[in-house]
Amino acid sequence: MRRELGGGTVLAPVPAVLVTCAYEGRENVFTAGWTGIVNTRPPMAYVSVRPSRFSYDMIDKSGEFVINLTTKELVRAVDICGNKSGRDTDKFKLCRLDTVPSEKVGCPILAASPLALECRVRQRTELGSHTMFIADIVGMSADERFLDSKGKLNLEQAGLIAYAHGQYSSLGRGLGRIGYTVRKKGKRT
Ligand SMILES: Cc1cc2nc3c(=O)[nH]c(=O)nc-3n(C[C@H](O)[C@H](O)[C@H](O)COP(=O)(O)O)c2cc1C
Repeated sequence: MRRELGGGTVLAPVPAVLVTCAYEGRENVFTAGWTGIVNTRPPMAYVSVRPSRFSYDMIDKSGEFVINLTTKELVRAVDICGNKSGRDTDKFKLCRLDTVPSEKVGCPILAASPLALECRVRQRTELGSHTMFIADIVGMSADERFLDSKGKLNLEQAGLIAYAHGQYSSLGRGLGRIGYTVRKKGKRT
């Protein structure tokens, strides 16, 4: 038996990323769960932000942000940056988050993040509680530890985290690589 629960936002797991932004010499970082990829070519992503966030104006006015993927080493920072505002706290200092400059946008990248997506806003959509910023991913950089000798990205050992129903978790045991059900035996992709 199933019970109808009505509409809700309980799709899970979702990422819990650290979004960095900057405007007029100030930099900030906040946690976002409402984020994802929305197009392959050109590569595009979104983040939905409440206008009350300190980061909102920075993203709105600069038209730029960086999505920093997070790991179990960053989980404390994820929680702190999702509960304290840059309005009154330097979260980089509080969480001891070192940064490096982005290549393509004016926002800092978190040095401890295994992968950072540099985004330039293309479209803003006011949805209600949140405004969705849809952006081109104009640059991307990875911690070299997660690149193989051919430069291929492998984040299996990065300890990426996910967020589901109020709980942060590190990704568990892999259950099969994409296409494993249709790949011919002995043939590697
Ligand atoms: C797990 C988690 C996910 C969150 N996801 C979002 C989100 O997608 N959009 C948003 O506007 N706020 C989200 N928040 C809340 C902001 O991160 C929080 O309000 C933060 O203090 C805003 O920082 P700022 O005022 O420095 O911009 C999330 C918080 C947590 C803990």
